[in-house]
Amino acid sequence: MNIHILTLFPDMFPAYLNESILKKAQAMGQLTVRLHNIRDYTTDKHHVTDEPPFGGGGGMVLKPEPIFTAVESLVADLQSQQEMEGVPVILMSPQGRPFTQTIAQELAGQERLVLLCGRYEGVDERVREHLVTDEISIGDYVLTGGELAALVIVDAVTRLLPGVLGAEGAAEMDSHATGLLEGPHFTKPADFRGWVVPDVLRSGHAANVARWRREESLRRTWQRRPDMLLTAVLTEEDRWFLGQLAQESVAIGD
Ligand code: ADE
Repeated sequence: MNIHILTLFPDMFPAYLNESILKKAQAMGQLTVRLHNIRDYTTDKHHVTDEPPFGGGGGMVLKPEPIFTAVESLVADLQSQQEMEGVPVILMSPQGRPFTQTIAQELAGQERLVLLCGRYEGVDERVREHLVTDEISIGDYVLTGGELAALVIVDAVTRLLPGVLGAEGAAEMDSHATGLLEGPHFTKPADFRGWVVPDVLRSGHAANVARWRREESLRRTWQRRPDMLLTAVLTEEDRWFLGQLAQESVAIGD
């Protein structure tokens, strides 16, 4: 996957991109990230990228010209215009559709992505109307710019690319990937300060371990994110277990 990031602050990215799994994904050739400084696409003497809004009001707005020029020069760089056709140009914005694991999966199927990081009060509306194809928010709060949001997307998407996570199937079992939260994990020591690991996990009985994990996943989702149970794919056995949880909570007056 080839990700182009358009930003006024390219220096914010390398520290995160050049460590751990993202570093490995690039070394494997599964991920390339190209950082483009929007300021480099200005044509005026002072390299102005933002201006006050028409009509007054506070703050500054990113000008359309350098952003259009930056995206259009990506098109020109690619061997053929066709390569850029259908490529998502995604604006990071608190007004976008909320980012989810499903969107991460959808984006992981793309060969190329263009991520545009807004700053200040936002971008000129013509960028939104005539250049971007999608708008994504990473949550209902306002950041100082889209750079962290772009990194969140790069991270969530990269770990879904083939071979990037070591363990086979590791990403498939993640919280959210299954439509449920993951249950608890334990590692050595088996007894830490008198807090012991559940026996079943040390029993070596694979089927019992799998059932315990499923039930703990259901329990955690029931406790923390009951909304997710409305859309999760559940078996008869799962439904029975959830029924038990419901009865227990009624019994203890929860
Ligand atoms: N830019 C500012 N806040 C943002 C958010 N919540 N998500 C994505 N981009 C943003």
